[in-house]
Amino acid sequence: MRAIFGTTMSPPALYVSRLLPDPVMTAIRERFHLINVPEDAVPTETELHAGLSAADAAICTLTEPITELALAQARLKILANYAVGYNNIDLQAAARKHIVVTNTPDVLTDATADLTWALILAVARRVVEGDALIRSGSWRGMTPTQLLGFDLSGRVLGVIGMGRIGRAVAERARGFRMQVLYHSRQPPDTDKTPEGWTYRRLEHLLAESDIVSLHVPLTPATTNFIGPEQLALMKPTSMLINASRGPVINEAALVEALQQGRLTGAGLDVYEREPLLNPGLVSLRQVVLLPHIGSATLATRVRMGMICLENIDAVLNGRPAPNRVV
Ligand code: DGY
Repeated sequence: MRAIFGTTMSPPALYVSRLLPDPVMTAIRERFHLINVPEDAVPTETELHAGLSAADAAICTLTEPITELALAQARLKILANYAVGYNNIDLQAAARKHIVVTNTPDVLTDATADLTWALILAVARRVVEGDALIRSGSWRGMTPTQLLGFDLSGRVLGVIGMGRIGRAVAERARGFRMQVLYHSRQPPDTDKTPEGWTYRRLEHLLAESDIVSLHVPLTPATTNFIGPEQLALMKPTSMLINASRGPVINEAALVEALQQGRLTGAGLDVYEREPLLNPGLVSLRQVVLLPHIGSATLATRVRMGMICLENIDAVLNGRPAPNRVV
């Protein structure tokens, strides 16, 4: 028995919905009584509900719907979501049960912004098509007309959502000598807007940008935020990038716009019904598809885990959670 939580009583019971990187699992096993064996797979509803009901604290990921029903028998003090987004959690249900909910902001900003740029570059320079060509064995050497993409310098990047990740994406545009337009829910504070970034109403941003990148949280207001009408405003030479949440885009409308040549390409890390994929997306060669890996670097995923533990530690010791969302 160790005196980790200022007491020599048994360590608190922790439920962890998914297997986390080794350093996080090691820290968890040193400090908690882990009530389950987390796997690299989404828990069943029964497993999830049982875990939430038996623990003092829980770490969940965005793949677990934390509904009123899931929390019905919970006696948790804290639910630490292993993500910056928390659209998987019914916050009101958690509040009614006096469960503190926390997230993992800041630590994944750079990783997610980098991944956004990986998508931008991959679509603009047809990186995935090039890789597939080489692997197919049918490449016959460099030709002047092969896999022509488009330049980024001098183009317009339109960032929708100027939170931490949106800003980090816009900052990286400087290196590519791109113009930045942005749209955000909050009216712009021009004193805090870096030189060269210009606010636009949504319809103007969509019409003027060569690359539109989405960085909004998923809420009822942003569900299907980009649908047929918004896509119709974009230039046929432009591309859409999404590393935020899948349901922000109406995927059927996106597929139709791409099929009809009303957009030149798309780079997606997230999907409307993960892990299900709109079959139309798979057959489009101008689309780059990644499996929700925005924050997936080892260092970032370890930091996210450590933040969950810091928040749990705080709440179980009667201190305010540093990253409380409710
Ligand atoms: C987040 O943090 O919201 C990501 O999507 C999960 O990696």
